[in-house]
Amino acid sequence: MSRKFLHTLGVSQVFQEMPRDRLNESLSQAAPITSAKSPPPPSQKKDVMSGGQEDTSVSKVHPAYAAKNLQELRHIMESFDGCHLKLAATNTVFCDGNPDADVMLIGEAPGEEEDKQGKPFVGRSGQLLDKMLQAIGLDRTSVYISNIVPWRPPANRQPSTEEIAACLPFIEHHILLKKPKFLLLLGGVATKSLLYTSEGIMSLRGKWRAYTPPHGDKGFEPIELLPTYHPAFLLRSPGQKVYAWEDLKSLKEKLNKIHYMG
Ligand code: URA
Repeated sequence: MSRKFLHTLGVSQVFQEMPRDRLNESLSQAAPITSAKSPPPPSQKKDVMSGGQEDTSVSKVHPAYAAKNLQELRHIMESFDGCHLKLAATNTVFCDGNPDADVMLIGEAPGEEEDKQGKPFVGRSGQLLDKMLQAIGLDRTSVYISNIVPWRPPANRQPSTEEIAACLPFIEHHILLKKPKFLLLLGGVATKSLLYTSEGIMSLRGKWRAYTPPHGDKGFEPIELLPTYHPAFLLRSPGQKVYAWEDLKSLKEKLNKIHYMG
């Protein structure tokens, strides 16, 4: 795809999947490995206009994929300069909680308090989230928490499509390295971004599905994923808490099952 065409779409950077030694791969092996449930990101789609040839002038491999563990991922994120949100942020908000937890929660982006403290969900939404977790016997020692975007968008606005695209490989690789048994996606932004869908959170919440990060290898065991409402939405619409409660109970049932069996 030409640089000019990408610019008219508002795209300034395009990231590809893992680097490949194409000389040593057969054509069939060279196809991107994707889960049936997780469509490939736009950056992986073949460019019809160029007959599938990559335009290396505008594409590069996302640095997130070089990380071999969570610590390396954090360092790469902290030295990343591909998302302008970082310029105005005080901190890079990487994670909170227990890296060995079965459950990984993913929110949208840090707010003011999260930006100050460098931890996800420590403001008002975080306080509600803690209560929700407590209701099913969990806390920050038994879950792991991160966000789609690690830098605070100004005035707590939603991250733009371009900001999400620049950061998405970080959270996808984060999931791959963390390998939780369960993913709880908090709100529409987390759900739509990771599932590459425009379907609304109202219809997606409460439905379990299998998730494999788009660049996960063939041996990667799919993770059970559940979208639910974001705590900030629940603060604005307390009448919806009943549905979030259903989702939490469903997660608790799954956890009880693995602990009973394990
Ligand atoms: N909202 C989010 O989505 N993430 C946070 O870390 C805080 C508020």
